[in-house]
Amino acid sequence: MVDEKHVVTPWDVSGAVDYKRLINEFGIEEIGPELLKRIEKIAGKNFMLDRKIFFAHRDLKWLLDEYDKGNKFFLYTGRSPSGPIHLGHLMPWIFTKWIQDAFDCELYFQFPDEEKFLFRKDLTYEDAQKYLHENMLDVIALGFNPKKTHFIINTKHADLLYPEACKVAKKLTYSMVKSSFGLDESSNVGQIFYTSMQAVPAFLPSVIKGKKMPCLIPYAVDQDPHFRLTRDILPKIGHHKPASIQCSFLPPLTGMDGKMSSSKEYTAIYSTDTPKEVERKIKKYAFSGGRDTLEEHRRHGGNPDVDISFQYLKYMFEPDDKKLREIYNSYKSGSKTSGELKQIVIEKINSFLKEHQKKRELAKKKVDDFIYKK
Ligand code: TRP
Repeated sequence: MVDEKHVVTPWDVSGAVDYKRLINEFGIEEIGPELLKRIEKIAGKNFMLDRKIFFAHRDLKWLLDEYDKGNKFFLYTGRSPSGPIHLGHLMPWIFTKWIQDAFDCELYFQFPDEEKFLFRKDLTYEDAQKYLHENMLDVIALGFNPKKTHFIINTKHADLLYPEACKVAKKLTYSMVKSSFGLDESSNVGQIFYTSMQAVPAFLPSVIKGKKMPCLIPYAVDQDPHFRLTRDILPKIGHHKPASIQCSFLPPLTGMDGKMSSSKEYTAIYSTDTPKEVERKIKKYAFSGGRDTLEEHRRHGGNPDVDISFQYLKYMFEPDDKKLREIYNSYKSGSKTSGELKQIVIEKINSFLKEHQKKRELAKKKVDDFIYKK
């Protein structure tokens, strides 16, 4: 979807993202209270669902009906290596791990290591390979079950993917791709083919195991065009339409518009940032909903709804609803200052990253266990 103030495509997210509008334009469904209860009954509570960070879906009811009948689903998500991992990437993967544990399912994690090479002028193939390795470490560090998690690397598993991608590609016309992604005559032919590669893991396990299995794809909502096309095509080649669940974007440091960007240091906190860097970035860049002077802040209070430190607590770092509400109220009333709020989030992020970085080091020995083997 593109207009002047609001852009959400797989290549660009900018402006104030209007999620209600996306629900209509993309034809996804809001996750209502009934569905929430149904998930909770099986899997327990999840704050990202309760807080509507994961806010929409396709065919979740069908997926749960199948699950109730004993027909287990597998998970599929992915990451196209193009730069360092930041908190905005980790957020949906943390949720994916929660689903994997709660529903005890297999996860196919795709690394399309050709995607950003094809789509970005400035990214070389060799740099994408370097990031591929780095990015895999971050995924492993989140604690996915190695017995049930399979990395599919597009250029390394080409023998598995390519025959299936061709079956998708045969049903996908240039005009479908063109209108979904805004490609044109000057787009390279790799870009035109690419969606066929991203579609494959949504049914690859069914091919491997020789039986049709339901699939659930968690993703940030900008990936939706790929999966709208995927859902169109799959029934035509004998597979289920994948179910999906969409999340909103962790806002960048600079404020509520757009999303974190790997290439813009002032928008993002990277998984490898040191405690000092985190402190510097939050203090210097994290947009504050506080008032100009302490006196005004005490009198009128701050605005947590636009305050980036508060948003990070809400999205990732304060799972306890009661504690989050207390912070919300004390900031809004002016009893908590911006400086105090920033201090809370700095400590939370740093204690998360300390653990993450430890596990990321250990992951260096585990990469091989995660790469899919026939
Ligand atoms: N296109 C995604 C990216 O730019 C990578 C990706 C591949 C993906 N398959 C996916 C993301 C499935 C979410 C779900 O990073």
